[in-house]
Amino acid sequence: MTDKELVIEAINAMKNSYSPYSDFKVGAALLTENGKVYTGCNIENVAFGPSICAERVAFFKAISEGEKNFSKIAVVGGKNGAVTSPTPPCGVCRQVMREFCSDDFEILIVRENENYDKVLLKDLLPQSFKPEILSK
Ligand code: THU
Repeated sequence: MTDKELVIEAINAMKNSYSPYSDFKVGAALLTENGKVYTGCNIENVAFGPSICAERVAFFKAISEGEKNFSKIAVVGGKNGAVTSPTPPCGVCRQVMREFCSDDFEILIVRENENYDKVLLKDLLPQSFKPEILSK
């Protein structure tokens, strides 16, 4: 699975977004270390609080299927079903990523035309509160 293929998986997942309140569709594609892909989209709710981001849907699908080791995630978002802006993961999703991934986990933040910026989790969530702290 190339980075570009993972980006395309995220773009396809975006189409399933349920986002009638923000009209901002997000798709994510999470790659496991053994090459399997779990996708997610944002799912909103009329009460707002129960809404969930695309990244966490992808993670929770994978975790609930027994996956534990992840190498990267691609994230794409925008208005009116198009990729209108880069969509860096929100703070809650970054913390969820740090629960299951190392500092070197890769995040592909998609821009227009399937282009992307690759960033590391340690740069998105520096000085993180991480599982290793409680295990000491
Ligand atoms: N959203 C995501 O799915 N992922 C992010 O990283 C940022 C925000 C969703 C939440 C909400 O449904 C919509 O985008 C607008 O905030």
